[in-house]
Amino acid sequence: MKAIVCTKYGPPDVLQLKEVEKPIPKDDEVLVEVHAVSINDWDWGLLQGIPFANRMTNGLLKPKRVILGSDIAGRIEAVGKNVKQFQPGDQVYGDLSGTWGGFAEYVCARENALAFKPASMTFEEAAAIPQAAMLAIQGLRDKGHIQSGQKLLINGAGGGVGTFAVQIAKLYGVEVTGVDSSGKLDMLRSMGFDHVIDYAQEDFTKNGQCYDLILDVKTNRSIFDCARALCPNGVYVTVGGSTARLLQALLLGPLISMIGRKSIRIVLLKPNKDLAYMNELFEAGKLKPVIDGPYKLDEVPEAFRHFGEGKHKGKIVITMEHSSIT
Ligand SMILES: NC(=O)c1ccc[n+]([C@@H]2O[C@H](COP(=O)([O-])OP(=O)(O)OC[C@H]3O[C@@H](n4cnc5c(N)ncnc54)[C@H](OP(=O)(O)O)[C@@H]3O)[C@@H](O)[C@H]2O)c1
Repeated sequence: MKAIVCTKYGPPDVLQLKEVEKPIPKDDEVLVEVHAVSINDWDWGLLQGIPFANRMTNGLLKPKRVILGSDIAGRIEAVGKNVKQFQPGDQVYGDLSGTWGGFAEYVCARENALAFKPASMTFEEAAAIPQAAMLAIQGLRDKGHIQSGQKLLINGAGGGVGTFAVQIAKLYGVEVTGVDSSGKLDMLRSMGFDHVIDYAQEDFTKNGQCYDLILDVKTNRSIFDCARALCPNGVYVTVGGSTARLLQALLLGPLISMIGRKSIRIVLLKPNKDLAYMNELFEAGKLKPVIDGPYKLDEVPEAFRHFGEGKHKGKIVITMEHSSIT
């Protein structure tokens, strides 16, 4: 089968399209014919070998797992003998982070990493959902306890998480402000953001506004600056970003919460937990993934370059050509 292979850490140029062995599913796995896969920040980190934690799990000097890609959608081709939920032909999607292998024509996956894909959802839409939408819902609902009437700010609003988060937030009847670069602000307005801020022009921590809830995708600011932008009893939720800033939030968050009637919380992704809910929202017309692309498999290095430059809007998706696609 064809796959994009990463045999050394580095820039997107190290990625190569190669012929590799088609994987064979274990007893508790299924073999998925991949029809679409999306790029996540985690893939970017594994490609570069940064932060160092990625080398701890994936090899100090060179990657142990040579095929990246976690968020996939496709059709089940074969099932291991202990698999109960799926059968060949089922259309599925999910986040395979931990086992990876999505930038390939076929990948093996454990049953619990997959959900059924609604017939009305394209494979490209499905591949865009898993990690980004889980971070959005788990950040807003589970950690942020989002409530009607609140003022919400999303920092890093125009990428994967932000474009799902605004759609979910609007279901709760909140006023949403999005912070991103100037080239993405028109898209944010068209998606329903009530206010937009160009981070190069305005500092959301110093504009005199306060927010009941901040969902931070970039975590590039000091935790004290972010706490200042919270209203009394406000909640700041980080889903990821700068490692140093995350550590600061982890260590100093409890102190800020103790003295300031404000809460600092960190999302630990629970992969695939809310895919059934995403299916419900999608089928009710309340959730529409924003797709950048789709690119083809041999264009994955270019797609990664686009991701690294931060120019993408929503999720970058790669689509595969299989004769069985209907
Ligand atoms: N918590 C967990 O367990 C877990 C698991 C997986 C991933 N993650 C994290 O989840 C996040 C994924 O987010 P994503 O997929 O939405 O990323 P993304 O698609 O890269 O979006 C980030 C957005 O932030 C914008 N941005 C860049 N610099 C900014 C700044 N200074 N201020 C405001 N916005 C800025 C980018 O646009 P421009 O570049 O045009 O400015 C981009 O639109 C990552 O931080 C990742 O580490 C967390």
